[in-house]
Amino acid sequence: MRNACKKKVLYCGIIIIVLIIFLHPDMNARRSYEYIEKELIPDTLYEETAVNFTSSAILECDYHDVLFDDTTLSDSLVDGDLIEGHRIREGGEFSPSDCKPKFSTAVIVPYRDRAEQLRGFLVYMHMFLRRQSIHYRIFVVEQVDTRPFNRAKLLNIGALAAMRAGYPCLVLHDVDLLPLRPANLYACTKCPRHMSSSINKFRFVLPYLNLFGGAIAITSHQYKTINGMSNEYFGWGGEDDDLYARMESEELKMCRFEPENSRYHMMSHKSQHTGDRRKQVVKYEKNGISDDGLKNLKYTEVATVLHPLFTHIMVDL
Ligand code: BGC
Repeated sequence: MRNACKKKVLYCGIIIIVLIIFLHPDMNARRSYEYIEKELIPDTLYEETAVNFTSSAILECDYHDVLFDDTTLSDSLVDGDLIEGHRIREGGEFSPSDCKPKFSTAVIVPYRDRAEQLRGFLVYMHMFLRRQSIHYRIFVVEQVDTRPFNRAKLLNIGALAAMRAGYPCLVLHDVDLLPLRPANLYACTKCPRHMSSSINKFRFVLPYLNLFGGAIAITSHQYKTINGMSNEYFGWGGEDDDLYARMESEELKMCRFEPENSRYHMMSHKSQHTGDRRKQVVKYEKNGISDDGLKNLKYTEVATVLHPLFTHIMVDL
């Protein structure tokens, strides 16, 4: 009797240990995908600054400390005050004054109707990005018409504006995502990079291997090569899978950083209807990439306003 009892306790213990090992977010995240080893990241970075960008600093910025920073930030920083007098130029542009940056990044945020989230995002992102010693500017592209939200078309519009401003690197970014690790450098790699591969909402596990949504970094040149994203995805979901299919068609292989450094916090909001993925990618399969994207992008620009923390592009799709 006593032995049977001991056995039960032992079995229960083993089951609990196995569950902890397999359900712990870190374990899952580590198992789930291939990534660029930290030591190799410097060689994969795409070093280029914006056309016409100048810096009075003599020494080039060094990114070793950023890439090897092992701190984690708290999402509660969104509640901080709007930064003033921190050398952020009108339109939400910043460059470090103590060194010459190697990267110019346009952070492009599709947006509608989430003022509180946008405020938190801007406060957080400027605090986050300023410590990375990069030159950057935040573009918020707002859909002002009443049609269903079209994330990809807004990103195309923002990408065009960023390219016109001479940015060689685009970070396409959802407004509800906050990068938690300063080591997640907001610069392009030579391979298009899926940045938000470990999100708290998914228990820091990548939901599926080809996911290419949330926050991604892609060079302007690569974005042009794939004719940007599709303009036809009104409503939630699928447009990022379509983007992935476009990259595959041009043999552009995506990459990622390690799960720990790809951690994001998703700010909460009402969840939207999740569509059927397979059904949605059909748009790419039907149209290919040549007739649907940057090349046939049509919209009305209602206004563009330079705010202290961002460039606000308002459009009617
Ligand atoms: C949708 C994507 C979305 C992903 C993660 C997929 O089913 O097609 O657009 O990014 O789920 O939520």
